[in-house]
Amino acid sequence: MKPYILAFNEIEKTDIMVVGGKGVNLGELSKINGIRVPDGFCVTTGAYGKSIEDSTELEALIEKLAELKPGDRGQIAQTSKKIRSVIENLTMESNIQNAVDRALSKCDSNEAYAIRSSATAEDLPRASFAGQQDTYLNIRGKDEVIRHIIKCWASLFTDRSVTYRIKNGFDHRKVLLSVVVQKMVMSEASGTMFTADPMTSDRKTLTIDAGFGLGEALVSGLVNPDSYKVVDGRIAEKNIGAKEIEVRPDRSGGTQKVRVEKGRQQKQVLSDEQILELAGMGKKIEGYFGFPQDIEWCLVNNEFYIVQSRSITTLFPIPDVNGLKTPRVYMSIGHTQMMTDAIKPLGMSFFEMISEVSMEKIGGRIYTDITHDLSSAVGRSRLVMASGKQDPLIQSALKNLVEDRDFMASLPKGKRNVQGGIFTLGSILEAIKIYRKNDPSIIHEIINDFEKEVRNMGQQLSRLSGNQALEFIDNDREKLLAMAYNPKMLGAIIAAILVNDSINKKVEKLLGDKNAADMLTKSLDHNVTTEMGLALCDLADTVRKHPRVLEYISQNPNDEDFFENMEKLPGGKETNEAFREFFEKFGMRCPGEIDITRERFEEKPTQLIPIILNNIRVLKPGEHKTRFQAGRQEAKDKEEEIIRRLKNLPGGSRRAKKIEKSISLLCNFAGCREDPKYYIVRRYQVYKKALMKEARKLAEKGIIKNAEDIFYLYMDELRDVVRTNKLDTTVCHY
Ligand SMILES: Nc1ncnc2c1ncn2[C@@H]1O[C@H](COP(=O)(O)OP(=O)(O)OP(=O)(O)O)[C@@H](O)[C@H]1O
Ligand SMILES: [Mg+2]
Repeated sequence: MKPYILAFNEIEKTDIMVVGGKGVNLGELSKINGIRVPDGFCVTTGAYGKSIEDSTELEALIEKLAELKPGDRGQIAQTSKKIRSVIENLTMESNIQNAVDRALSKCDSNEAYAIRSSATAEDLPRASFAGQQDTYLNIRGKDEVIRHIIKCWASLFTDRSVTYRIKNGFDHRKVLLSVVVQKMVMSEASGTMFTADPMTSDRKTLTIDAGFGLGEALVSGLVNPDSYKVVDGRIAEKNIGAKEIEVRPDRSGGTQKVRVEKGRQQKQVLSDEQILELAGMGKKIEGYFGFPQDIEWCLVNNEFYIVQSRSITTLFPIPDVNGLKTPRVYMSIGHTQMMTDAIKPLGMSFFEMISEVSMEKIGGRIYTDITHDLSSAVGRSRLVMASGKQDPLIQSALKNLVEDRDFMASLPKGKRNVQGGIFTLGSILEAIKIYRKNDPSIIHEIINDFEKEVRNMGQQLSRLSGNQALEFIDNDREKLLAMAYNPKMLGAIIAAILVNDSINKKVEKLLGDKNAADMLTKSLDHNVTTEMGLALCDLADTVRKHPRVLEYISQNPNDEDFFENMEKLPGGKETNEAFREFFEKFGMRCPGEIDITRERFEEKPTQLIPIILNNIRVLKPGEHKTRFQAGRQEAKDKEEEIIRRLKNLPGGSRRAKKIEKSISLLCNFAGCREDPKYYIVRRYQVYKKALMKEARKLAEKGIIKNAEDIFYLYMDELRDVVRTNKLDTTVCHY
């Protein structure tokens, strides 16, 4: 038979379904040497289940609740009230009563108890119901204890708990309640302690909040507590709160709020020694659980009691540094690419395929370990310089670290991780050749090769299926990299970057004009992103020609039948055709496109609508074309002006000739910098089509629910699923 009562020292780590999270952790806390936990026991979820199982009335009421929506406030209140009253009028079965009685009889019959709720969800032991159910302090006598245990059970059906469950999709029947019956500490002071900072995830700062009297005032937000911060065993900060109210035990049972006398309101609740003693206990508890903890404590007669501890689940995870010398410094690669959102696991795997540095996946973001780079002078200056071009905030964070001498001295040395990026030996040699020849046809040749390669690859992959298809994609990595890091293409990009800088410097020095290159590179030929912008304006022009089409896309159409419905409208065929043309060149693109799991324009065409509508609003028909031409003319004019002014300087004609060549180089090659990414995304599109084909097969076989579920698997896990036709459901990434 399942027990109805478990004393704290009988509770096992695995008893979460029996005594809830609070119960299990009280059991664990009691095992830690040097940590005082007031004695007590748990009335198990089994006792609760047993007590309610025979009530058909309750069954019917809970059924009724299941049909309600979060907005049905009146109905929720009415039904919950009935449920609470049914539960409160239950008579506790004699077996359970006897068990409680036996547990209580070990103590003085006039002992006071805290009767506390500990809820848990079947199947979802990690679900949190913090603060939702009732706790009663200072309860004396067997009958009162039993009455309050039943009241805790009923508190599973407060309006608040019920609404929370409806909102979050929890089944009311699957949420269970255990009740903790624990000796009361007549606290002179009490409060909370976070062994890490939940706001910043700083694991070195421990925070204690403290108020006078029982903890109810503080946990319910009634008072402004004192707040102390402890870092490395030293008090780093103390804020004394105005504690106007304290909760005290009432002589007749229960508690009462009293005003704190004027002189005492501003007094520091804990002495400095007490703060450090408590912090030490916090660190000990954290060490025991192996994770930062959120702790509730009480103080009486200069002795601390711990009444609760739970892991802080909201901290940003830290990387696994097993075997590595600490400290370590990680830099977010996503941020340098303007991808600040979390990337799903499959997206990570593909990002990893193209990453030139080793990656750490932390909290759905991609980081690289830059510890050794920072510890070397060359690596350090390169990082600071490169990050300035990509993300000024990262640069300022790096500068702060570099200026912290103690920290820099503590860094371990080793092989650098971040190499030169696009500046490889091969690409630099190509850059020199390109500089000499200045022949833009080389770009057309490379692009032709890329196009052919992508087509071929697509044909090969389309003939494969199952594991073979996935294996093909894995093996294609080398070709993908060869394309992304094609030395000729990178050479062209490098040549353009270098002449860009040198033109800016020279023109400023000789003529005093700043950033001349910006003007000279207006309306460039061959820049895929500019081309896409223009194509979107063309698309807008087609849409605006057809009022019915414009009306249709302005009214939030669905993606599923977007084209089908459009086709039926006057001008719909032509617009569909215009979309089709756009997708041919840009359908594989989308915001955050390096994450393969993001929906591409062709997969979710409606994401283009806001852009199209905006183009229609701000531009006249064809205006983008005239603007583009005007930009080109401005660039030409600027070039001529620079040349003319240079020629007027002493020795000017030689200088002008040189600059003329540089400008020509710049205009020929500056547009290529978007090409490597574009072709990565083109290849991704081919992969994604094959992956989604496999995903749909898995969904049809019922191995996964929706095809998109594969986004939550890493590539090697997906391969396992495809190979074995089985999904290990313990694989669960956040
Ligand atoms: N045995 C006890 N003696 C004295 N005070 C107690 C005792 N148990 C709990 N308390 C006080 O009551 C407060 C609230 O109790 P409890 O932890 O049960 O509920 P909660 O913190 O409001 O919600 P939950 O912990 O379920 O999220 C505790 O922070 C503590 O200050
Ligand atoms: Mg609590």
